[in-house]
Formats: sequence, C-alpha cells, structure tokens
Amino acid sequence: MTAPRRPVLVLNGPNLARLGSREPEVYGSATLADLAQACRVAGEELGLAVEVRQTDDEAELIGWLHEAADTRTPVVLNPAAFTHYSYALSDAIAQRTAPLVEVHLTNPATREAFRHTSVVAAVATGTIAGFGLDSYRLALRAVAGLASPADTASPADHPAPARGA
Ligand code: DQA
Repeated sequence: MTAPRRPVLVLNGPNLARLGSREPEVYGSATLADLAQACRVAGEELGLAVEVRQTDDEAELIGWLHEAADTRTPVVLNPAAFTHYSYALSDAIAQRTAPLVEVHLTNPATREAFRHTSVVAAVATGTIAGFGLDSYRLALRAVAGLASPADTASPADHPAPARGA
C-alpha cells in the first residue's frame, strides 16, 4: 500500500497571477498556471500533495498561514512584495508549526535596494531565490526532506523560531 501524500501549501502573494505578462524580461514567460503545474508535478515525484494558491490580499494570505499553522502543514511561500515590509505576514509566519520555505523567482539581492530586505527570512526555515520555477521545485524538495509523516519538523534539527521563556 502506498503512503498517503503529505499535503503542502504553495502560497503566492500579490501580482504573481500576472506572471507571463508581468515584466517578462524580469519574471520570464511562465504563467501562474505553468507554475502551479510544475509544483504539482514536482510534488507527485516527491510524494507530496501540493495545493497552489495566489492572492493579492494580505489578509487572505495571513489567513492561509494561520490555516497551515493550525494543521501543521508545510508551506512554500512566495510573499512577493510583502516580503519587504509586511510585519503582519512575518508575525503570521512566526506561528508556524511546520517548515516554511521562502521562495522568489528572481534574486531580490541583485535588484533594487528596497528588495534587499526580507522581513520573512528570519522566521522562515530557509530561502531559495533566483532560479525561476526551479526555486519552487527546490523548495518542495527541501520540504520533502524535512517532512516526516508523524510530524513535519524534528525540533532538534529544525527549531522553530524562539518564542521567549
Ligand atoms: C518576487 C520578488 C519580489 O521583490 C517582488 O515584489 C515580486 C516577486 C520574486 O518572486 O522574484 O513580486 O517575490
């Protein structure tokens, strides 16, 4: 009998539904549908049940992060521009109960100065940036390596951010 595939949420923030037509010289020609398909295929290969979502709404994205925390679901997150300033998103990620990998299609460190700050990185398990759709595939591979059926993170190996005393 094959083991059930472990659920993973792939969450995408603002303007990512515009992929394909949005600054193709920066973000490439793949659409969000292409991205979702690539994630589902990668998930199948890795034994993960991948669900891809996108929103332009900060509140909706925070709600999905709460859902992931409540269900101990690993997350691959492209916070898009929220990366650079949303402390509300950072606070939501800090509540995570499973690995969360921050991803970016581009490498923000090579771009405008405002993109050099991530308020997400400090509360993420790790960050993968600059590889286009492969950023997502690599992140899913990382999640598959971290996830165990009983629980997602081994606290010794992948401590969640400190919560204070
Ligand atoms: C992005 C990088 C962000 O700086 C930008 O605001 C995005 C996309 C990326 O995937 O490269 O919307 O997260």
